[in-house]
Amino acid sequence: MNESINAGPVWGNVAAAKAAVDEAAGRVQTARRDFLKLFGYGSAGLVLGGLIPEAAVAAAAASGVSAANQSPYAAAFGFDPGLLYMNIGTTGASPTQVVKNAHQDYKAIAGNPTAYFFGQQVMRNTIAEGFGCDPYELVLSFNTTDGLWRIVMGIPFAPGDELITTNMEEDAGMSAYRMLADRFGVVIKTVNIPTNDAYSDAEVLARFKARHTKKTKAILFSCPIYLTGARLPAKQLCKWAAKKGIISIVDGAHLPGMVVLDLHDMGCDFFSGAGHKWQCGPGQTGFLYVRNGFDPNPQVVQRPTSDFAPFGVPSPMVGIPVPGYTNTNPLPTYYPTNTLLYGAGGILANGIRDPSHNVAAVLQLIGNGSRPTQNALVECCQMWDAWGRPAIEDYVVALAQYLRSRIVDSWGFDALSIPFAGFADASARTGLTSFNPFSPGFDYNADLTAAQSSAQGAASAAAVATLKNNYQIVIRNNSVPHTLRSNPTQNAAPGTFSAPLRISTHLFHSPADVDRVINALLEVVPHP
Ligand SMILES: Cc1ncc(COP(=O)(O)O)c(C=O)c1O
Repeated sequence: MNESINAGPVWGNVAAAKAAVDEAAGRVQTARRDFLKLFGYGSAGLVLGGLIPEAAVAAAAASGVSAANQSPYAAAFGFDPGLLYMNIGTTGASPTQVVKNAHQDYKAIAGNPTAYFFGQQVMRNTIAEGFGCDPYELVLSFNTTDGLWRIVMGIPFAPGDELITTNMEEDAGMSAYRMLADRFGVVIKTVNIPTNDAYSDAEVLARFKARHTKKTKAILFSCPIYLTGARLPAKQLCKWAAKKGIISIVDGAHLPGMVVLDLHDMGCDFFSGAGHKWQCGPGQTGFLYVRNGFDPNPQVVQRPTSDFAPFGVPSPMVGIPVPGYTNTNPLPTYYPTNTLLYGAGGILANGIRDPSHNVAAVLQLIGNGSRPTQNALVECCQMWDAWGRPAIEDYVVALAQYLRSRIVDSWGFDALSIPFAGFADASARTGLTSFNPFSPGFDYNADLTAAQSSAQGAASAAAVATLKNNYQIVIRNNSVPHTLRSNPTQNAAPGTFSAPLRISTHLFHSPADVDRVINALLEVVPHP
C-alpha cells in the first residue's frame, strides 16, 4: 500500500517527501476516475446521487492543476475562500454534495413530517464492509463520547477490577474511566505514553504488560493519541489483551475516514469512533462497534434489509463479505444501556451473547433520530469506499510526512511528538502531526518548570489565535504530559505540561497548503 513512501532514504528530505505526496495523489486520482466510471456521475445508488459536482470535476480535470497546488479532492469541498482549515482532529467538514442532499432531506421531512426510528439496517449493511466488520456489530452512534460511555456502562465491572489505560486519553475516555472508579470501585492503572525519540511501539506494549495483574479486566486506549498523533499498535495491544483474557476497548475517534480501518483484524472487543471528524459526516455522528463473533475465517454473511427482521419479521437478505476475526475469544458479557428494545428477540438479554444475534439492531434503536444526519454520514462513507480508503490513507499519510519533513527541516527532529523517518513508521501513519516550537532547544521532550510551562501555554495559545486571525489558518494546541528528556521513563507532572501545536492534514489539502502553514508559522512562532 505504501511501497512508494517506503521507497527511498528520505530522512528529513523535503523534496522526496513532496514527491511521495505527488505519487499518492496520482493513486487518488486513479481511484477517483475508476469511481466515476463505476458509478457514472449522477446515477443514484443507495443514497448516492451525484457525489462530486460535475462541473467541479470537469474543471479540475481540464485545469491540469498539479497535485502540489491542489488536492485531487479539493473540488468536492466548500471551504470559505481563503480559509485553510487544519483542525480535522476536532471536527471535519462535509463534502458539498452531502450538505446539499442533507438540506433537501431535512426540507422534505419538514414538508411531510415522519417519525424516524428505522432504516438503519440498510445503512449498516452499506457501510460495515468499509470498516471490516459485520453490520450486526456496527451502530450509528452520536459521537465517540457517546459510544465510549455505552461501552463502559454495558460491561459488568466489579469493585477491585483493574483497567489499564494511558495518561493521554481525551476527556471522553478520562471521564468514562473516572466514573468506573467512582461508581464501581474499578482500579485505574495508567501507562505513560512516551514522546519524541522515547516513543516506540515496543515500549508502549512493554508498559501495558508491566501494569497487568490477575485482576486486570480491561484495557482502554486511544489510537491514535489525540495529543501526539501516535498511532498506538492497536492490533498488538488487542491481541495481547485477548491472550490474557482481557477485554479491549479502543477509542478510535480519529481512525474512521483517516485510514483503512479493519475492525476484525484489529481484534478489539469494543471500538468507538467519530463520524464527524475524518469521515467528514455531520456533527453528532459516530460509530460504535461491538465484536460479536470469533470465527477466524472470512465469510459472506446473509443480512436482512428490514430493521424488524431480528424480531421475527421476514426480510429480503443481502450477502455481505466479512473478514475473519483475529480475536477468537468468547464474547464478553455486555448489556445495552440505552435501547427501546431491551431483551427483544433474546438479544443481549442479561448481557448474554450469541454470534447469530443482531446486536446492533438492539443498540441502534434508542428512539427517534435524525434521518438527514444519518443519511449524510452514510453518504460520506460511500464516497470514501468508492474513492478507495487505501488511496485516501496513502495520501493523508504522505501529506503528513511532507509536513513533518518541513518541520524537521526548520525546527529539527527533536521538535516532533514522535520519531521521524522518511517513510512513515506504523505509528506515524496518521494525519495528526504535533510539534513544539516553544520548548527550550526546540525539544519536544524538554523538562519544564511550572513557570516555563505556563509561559509556553500562553505563547502556544497566542500563536493559534494569530494564525486564525491574521492568516485564516485553523490549527490547535494541546496540553501534553510529554516524556522528560532528563528521564525517558518519566512524563511531565501536572503543572509542567508542554503546549505543542497540532496540525491535521486531510484529503482536501495539498503540499501548497502545508507550505502555507509552515510559512505562517515561521513568521509567528520561534525557530532556530
Ligand atoms: C481521542 C479522542 N476521543 C474522543 C474524542 C471525543 O470525540 P467526539 O466529539 O466524537 O465525542 C476526541 C475528540 O477530539 C478525541 O480526540
